[in-house]
Amino acid sequence: MSEMSEPVDRASQGAPAMEAQPVVYLSGEWVPESNAKISIFDSAVMLGDSLTESTRTFAHRPFRLDEHVRRLYRSLKVARVDPGLSPAELLSVTEQLIELNRGQWRTEDDAWIVHNISRGSMRPGPASTQANPATIMIFTSPLDLTGWASYYEAGCHAVTSFSRVVPAQSLDPKIKNRSRLSYTIADAEARLVDRDAQCVILDIDGYVAENKGGNIFAVVDGELRTPSTVNCLAGVTRDVTLELARQQGIAASETRLQMYDLYNADELFFTSTPYCMMPATRFNGLPVGTGQVGPVTRRLLEAWSDLVGIDVVRQAQRQPAAD
Ligand SMILES: Cc1ncc(COP(=O)(O)O)c(C=O)c1O
Repeated sequence: MSEMSEPVDRASQGAPAMEAQPVVYLSGEWVPESNAKISIFDSAVMLGDSLTESTRTFAHRPFRLDEHVRRLYRSLKVARVDPGLSPAELLSVTEQLIELNRGQWRTEDDAWIVHNISRGSMRPGPASTQANPATIMIFTSPLDLTGWASYYEAGCHAVTSFSRVVPAQSLDPKIKNRSRLSYTIADAEARLVDRDAQCVILDIDGYVAENKGGNIFAVVDGELRTPSTVNCLAGVTRDVTLELARQQGIAASETRLQMYDLYNADELFFTSTPYCMMPATRFNGLPVGTGQVGPVTRRLLEAWSDLVGIDVVRQAQRQPAAD
């Protein structure tokens, strides 16, 4: 790892004051965000070949960063990418990056911490094995929750896409990767039904798998049910939600779910790092349960706020809407 270089360009003495720029960690260098550039021959660009993690802060403190880093190293191992940094070194540069950028976050807001790691430079040729150092990209940015804010009270519309998840036999969904084309297409398909729809992607056998960026939970007969990680990412938020359910005495199971189960569920919600829990009150045009955000969802959202020490719903609702 190289020594930390001057993080921002200070050569503009006397020039009009400019907004401070976040610093990015790029393969051993600390650079201002606008100077963080990678080659068009990078494997991330050439092959969509990169592993990723998105962590968030609560009250400016990273939440379960060590778990995200552990999941990242599991993904790297299975994808056969050598990052050239140990988990402890990666954790340390991430913590340094947070310190460098924290001053730019508004007190009431939180931040994303995003890791993207690719196999490095990859010219077209016969082999796809790693021949060059990995490209390590880490950035932080303020967490804009406005797109999800209305769903905590109104619930969103969950809609199944035409496309199915890539089967685990081809690409295990536990490998958190940036090859996002299948999720992007599924999301666009769901939005043909409702432009605000949140997609529910099924697996090739018709079982509920996940959302393009989240896991799915249903409350059926008072029990919380979520697909097992055979067909979806082992989400950190999913794990925490299951932990909270156990603490709250809510029965929970990891099981197979069909569309039928979601149509007849009493409650439905998605889980993901930025929003924690996003209630869904309609599924494919029909009301879920009473069509209102249900008591189990509300209880778990409260438990989330207690756990992280901030009211996650109010934080999202208080953010000013984007221009
Ligand atoms: C496909 C997919 N499923 C589920 C999740 C939720 O994972 P987590 O709770 O760790 O954010 C994500 C997060 O980005 C995702 O991309």
